[in-house]
Formats: sequence, structure tokens, C-alpha cells
Amino acid sequence: MARITAGVATSHVPLLGVGIDQGKMEDPYFKPIYQGYEWSKKWIAEEKPDVIILVYNDHASAFDMNLIPTFAIGCADEFAPADEGWGPRPVPNVKNHADMAWHIAQSLILDEFDMTIINKMDVDHGLTVPLSLMYGQPEEWPVKVIPLAVNVVTYPPPSGNRCWKLGEAIARAVESFEEDLNVQIWGTGGMSHQLQGPRAGLINAEWDQKFLDDMTADPERLRHIPHIEYLRETGSEGIEMVMWLIMRGALGDNIKELHRHFHVPASNTAVGHLVLEKTS
Ligand code: DHB
Ligand code: FE
Repeated sequence: MARITAGVATSHVPLLGVGIDQGKMEDPYFKPIYQGYEWSKKWIAEEKPDVIILVYNDHASAFDMNLIPTFAIGCADEFAPADEGWGPRPVPNVKNHADMAWHIAQSLILDEFDMTIINKMDVDHGLTVPLSLMYGQPEEWPVKVIPLAVNVVTYPPPSGNRCWKLGEAIARAVESFEEDLNVQIWGTGGMSHQLQGPRAGLINAEWDQKFLDDMTADPERLRHIPHIEYLRETGSEGIEMVMWLIMRGALGDNIKELHRHFHVPASNTAVGHLVLEKTS
């Protein structure tokens, strides 16, 4: 049977993709940011997950104001990096485990989560930057990736509690897939940041660190943070953090924090990163 063994949370700052693509990892600005991923890169090389359910958001690359799915799952065999205005990133195509993606889509829909099914899509920095941070620059990504896209760009995004429950349903879907697979779930985006308007550049490190603490200490609190609090405390783009709660909901009650990294600033963003192990 397939089983979820661990969860990873990480910001997806596009500049961190550029830093890797342009060989700037030793640059004094970037070095302390990437150093926080060194432990995780070694860990994942040992863990060798077969499949990652990668919860992320598209930034008007595949979807735009014409089409806004709240929750969508990628069921195609392969996804190419999107052109976000300066050409696609020089990273490999993402290969799916399409049988498992279809199984999860069916299980979620019958479990009363109305997923949008995606059969063709390019993937932007929201998905490719987390892969680069965790795997560096391989010829091919050494893992199958099931993209799970969440609307956090246009109001109303889903609530944190709805995200948590989707995570629980994803765990049920994975556990009912017959193949013996080591599956991780990643929650990406965040932490506090605002990219436009009078509060552009807002970062709230204190709030972010409490959020990191409560991923293990008090996840119940995180489930019920209202949208207005994300907006007020973490800036307009901080709402990306509801995606972490899909990952957290999928892990269940028994988890252990293996690794944490927090760095301010990276581009306009507070970078947060957690590795959580499912202990039973
Ligand atoms: C930045 C952060 C994001 O999450 C994003 O999608 C785009 C830009 C930034 O910090 O520059
Ligand atoms: Fe973003």
C-alpha cells in the first residue's frame, strides 16, 4: 500500500530559483538562505520518496481571471516549466504518477471534495522552486510529482480548515492506493509577504515564527486563522500559508519536527521551511 511518510513546507520565492539557475548559491545574499536547505537535501536523498503530492499555487501562468479552480489536481503524464515572462526556467519537466493522480482525484471527488482535473498544464515557480530547493539541479527530477493547485491568488481562497480537511482526505486516498509507495506531501508558499500597494515589503517574522511553532505545538489554532488575520498580519500574499495546512492535515496527529529554517528577507518574503516526519 502507498503511505505518507513525511511532510515538507517551504516558501517558493522566485528569486531563489533564479539564484540556483544562475549559479549564485555562494553569493553572500543567497548563501544563508540556501544553507538552511542543506540538511533537507541530504535527508531527502536518503528518504528517496517515490511520489510527492506537491501542494502549490499557480501565479496566473496556467490559470488567470478567466478560470479560477479552488482545488485542482494534475493528472497528465508530464508538466513543462512555464514561461513567466523571461522564458521557462532551465529545469527538467515534472513527471507525474498519473495512475495515482487519477486514483486520488476519484477518491477525493467521491469523498465530496469537488476537484478540478487538469490534463494539460505548465507549472510555474510555485512548483519548480520548491523542487530546486530540495533537489538542486538534477538532469531529471528523481521523484514523481502530483501537482495539487490551490487558489490563493483571488478572493475567496479556501479556509485553512477546509484545507486541513482536504489534507485528511488526501491521506485516505493515498492509503487506498495499492502500489507500495513512499509518498511525501509538500505544502508550499508563504511566509509573510506583500508584493504590491502601500504595504509592499511587509514581513512579520514574529507571526511567522509562531506559525512554525504551532505546526507541531498547536495546529488546531492554525486551522481556524481567519483570512482577515492573514491579510492584516502577513500581507496580501501571506494567505499562501493555507497550503501548508493541507500538508499538515494529511500527516495526522503523530508527527515530529526534524528540521526548521527561517530567514528574513529573501526577495520580498520571509522564507520558512519545515521537515515533518509522520511517526505513526
Ligand atoms: C515573491 C514571492 C512570491 O511568493 C511570489 O509568488 C512572487 C514573488 C517575492 O518575494 O519576490
Ligand atoms: Fe507566491
